[in-house]
Amino acid sequence: MVTRADIGVIGGSGFYSLLDDAEEIKLATPYGPPSDVVTVGRIGTRSVAFIPRHGRDHRFPPHRIPYRANLWALRMLGVRQVLAPSAVGSLRAEYGPGAMVIPDQLVDRTSGRVQTYYDVDGAVHVSFADPYCPSGRATAVETARSTGWETVDGGTLVVIEGPRFSTRAESQWFAGNGWSIVGMTGFPEAVLARELALCYTSLSLVTDHDAGVEAGQGVTHDEVLEFFAQNVTRMRTLVAQTVQALPEERTCPCRAALDGIKLPFELP
Ligand code: ADE
Repeated sequence: MVTRADIGVIGGSGFYSLLDDAEEIKLATPYGPPSDVVTVGRIGTRSVAFIPRHGRDHRFPPHRIPYRANLWALRMLGVRQVLAPSAVGSLRAEYGPGAMVIPDQLVDRTSGRVQTYYDVDGAVHVSFADPYCPSGRATAVETARSTGWETVDGGTLVVIEGPRFSTRAESQWFAGNGWSIVGMTGFPEAVLARELALCYTSLSLVTDHDAGVEAGQGVTHDEVLEFFAQNVTRMRTLVAQTVQALPEERTCPCRAALDGIKLPFELP
């Protein structure tokens, strides 16, 4: 394969226009096709591969996204660092719609999603104590703040199975545990990235206060979509600037996630 990229972006469909000299690549993986054709191009001097997480026509709800195929496809293209912009609900009154959270922890409340490449003979146990790339996070926080964005450095993202939103009691329970934001797509994306020794950074845009924080009707899908659409230009700029600020050489622990582990198959 000739076309290659260093950085992967998995996000909403608003990101196509980020890429110069873009080329569309249809990829097959051992886990089926990714969510859509992968668009590979440039942002400044960096080569970038973009996958629309839900598919171009938004056909994949969060629990049916082909997460394994998406991360594998990025690695096939040579990607080693992944940026993952997404919409989340806030579990804290002080983080309102529009806040940018770069989480440093994750709680998995999904169920039934395939969350490993290594469901084959042989034991592969990756470390996941710190699920996000420290240098990707630092770059994203610094970049967001430099654009004047109200940015939260750290916090816990709880990922629910969906597609329904949380009940008020679930939401209050999440908040009571000290967790900051809630979403539906951050897992297993993060762990699959780690299983491929990729750096993974979540750029979580708060679109709403989750049900436990607000006394009103609770969250609606329309509210989330509308808010995200209003902020898509801002998100696009943040992703473009973060891509260009990411270090070219990896010195973070993510790159060594598989060192010393005997893999049951070769990675692309
Ligand atoms: N995505 C955006 N807002 C959300 C919420 N409140 N809960 C789960 N996922 C979300």
